[in-house]
Amino acid sequence: MAHSSNLIADDIEQYLERHANKSMLRFITCGSVDDGKSTLIGRLLYESKLVFEDQLTALEADSRKVGTQGEGLDFALLVDGLAAEREQGITIDVAYRYFSTERRKFVVADTPGHEQYTRNMVTGASTADLAVILVDARKGVLTQTRRHSYLVSLLGIRHVVLAVNKLDLMNYSQQVFDEIAAAYATFAAEIGLTDVVPIPLSAYIGDNLTERSANTPWYTGPTLIEHLETVEITDDPHQAPFRLPVQWVNRPDLDFRGFSGQIVSGSVRPGDRLRVLPSAKESTVARIVTMDGDLDEAVAGQSVTITLADEIDISRGDVLAAADALPGVADQFEAHLVWMGEHEMLPERPYLCQIGTMTVQARITKPKHKVNVNTLEQTATNTLALNEIGVCNISFDRPVPFDPYADNRDTGGFILIDRLTNTTVGAGMIAHSLRRSDNIHWQAVDVDGPARQALNGHRPQVLWFTGLSGSGKSTIANELERRLHALGCHTYLLDGDNVRHGLNRDLGFTEADRVENIRRVTEVARLMADAGLIVLASFISPFRAEREAARELIGPDQFCEVFVDTPITVAEQRDPKGLYKKARRGELANFTGIDSPYEPPEDPDVRLDTTTLTPQAAADRILAELRRTGVVA
Ligand code: ADX
Repeated sequence: MAHSSNLIADDIEQYLERHANKSMLRFITCGSVDDGKSTLIGRLLYESKLVFEDQLTALEADSRKVGTQGEGLDFALLVDGLAAEREQGITIDVAYRYFSTERRKFVVADTPGHEQYTRNMVTGASTADLAVILVDARKGVLTQTRRHSYLVSLLGIRHVVLAVNKLDLMNYSQQVFDEIAAAYATFAAEIGLTDVVPIPLSAYIGDNLTERSANTPWYTGPTLIEHLETVEITDDPHQAPFRLPVQWVNRPDLDFRGFSGQIVSGSVRPGDRLRVLPSAKESTVARIVTMDGDLDEAVAGQSVTITLADEIDISRGDVLAAADALPGVADQFEAHLVWMGEHEMLPERPYLCQIGTMTVQARITKPKHKVNVNTLEQTATNTLALNEIGVCNISFDRPVPFDPYADNRDTGGFILIDRLTNTTVGAGMIAHSLRRSDNIHWQAVDVDGPARQALNGHRPQVLWFTGLSGSGKSTIANELERRLHALGCHTYLLDGDNVRHGLNRDLGFTEADRVENIRRVTEVARLMADAGLIVLASFISPFRAEREAARELIGPDQFCEVFVDTPITVAEQRDPKGLYKKARRGELANFTGIDSPYEPPEDPDVRLDTTTLTPQAAADRILAELRRTGVVA
């Protein structure tokens, strides 16, 4: 798609060539609901003549039907493509639009202004060079404006246009414009935004968008489009050191082995020395292969396949980097985190983390503080709620290649995904790695698992009992341990109430404390299984995420999830410790099943219905399972 130009009719070849060589500016627009964002983008597209005839006809019809602008064209309708947006009058997803002028090509990400859609703004902003921040001249700088600006700064966007919109509704008052510009400049300076250009606008009327407006004779700066066409983008990704996160290993036959992916920064030529991370092996670029033949050079943004002079083991997620300008490799970091999950962040919960083309397991080991976007005040915190922004220590389950986000947005940015719902719950920006783990290595030992197993005469195993309080976990575990002991097995029973007297006596029953309780118990159970024992772990362990993490850490072969399935009505009737009564009286907060959730296993290895099974029969069932899987003979 292109703008209208006489060249198209006169000399299409020359036009296309000129178009191809134009520089590209990526920008985002952000503002509150009703600031006029969609109208602004719609008019930019319209005035660069990118609207096709059929869209225009539809626009006229829609404008009459929806009719927020009287007889005029409602440019917002052009942009608000989604039906839901039209009905609600808000934009709910990131929409990318392309347009161009004589001097530049543009990609604009229209991001939603509604508070709960921070996620989309982060998505739209992560590749942008510039942000157009809209302010309604009648309202001035709002919390939303500050939050968006803070995010813009955090996401590494260095150029900002403060679009003071709807100035027609304030009689094109210079004073109004100056006051808003001054208020914003103070805030912008505090958050490190130094290139801010304020422009007085009416997107609806068209003032100072592409044409200088007679309504603002006092304004001497550029129009919006002039500024977008000429602003110099300094942090050119082509100049940064070469990085290519490997997306897949291309191995059609034994003679060819290429590493494919998108170059996220820098450039590469055959003969260049590269290092593969995290393995740290080095080689030289042999060929740069593409669909259209080999290249002499490839640059940031291009997707290529690279072959190396030496045979090196490389897999998806590895990063190819310039050998003379290396990224770091670490597994613990301090990072900025923007929380986007409906459910608050839980320290020590395992989340999936995507960094580059790698997926790792990540835990927030220590939330440090959160930032009040209005005052920029930092307050200590143990969690982050929806839309909160903070600084945390984060730990990955293995070392990853990285650059600080300030140096490279692609190798320094990551997202966190909830393992069960598969939704993105956080976006992170690496500040720096933490050195504390650098000098700690796994120590090799000679007496290992198989050696202990041979001595014991049975395989190690973690039997993980989960269920409500009073469901019968401890009773059944106790019965089973007696039997196993009689069979000559080496066992240990880890019980919630007991562990909470010692190792975990600092923990209560909030979600965060339960997550930490199960994390520690999982580590202990793993050590005990490594010592060769059959471990009976009896904990409510109400959350699937932590039980799944336990299965992964301990290893599926050594893990058996036993669901003691007792309905709450039955458990409450039994109430062996009188805790349900207390909870019902309101004397015990966060009680599982009453005011704290229990997530039953979806596919347990053993399910015990205690309304029909005696503890003895239940223990029999588990023993049968242990025989079936060959844990005991
Ligand atoms: S878990 O949720 O973190 O796995 P855990 O199994 O260690 O819990 O401890 C549960 C035991 O603590 C219960 O059997 C009960 O005796 C006691 N308890 C005290 N307060 C609570 C509470 N609010 N919710 C659940 N159990 C509680």
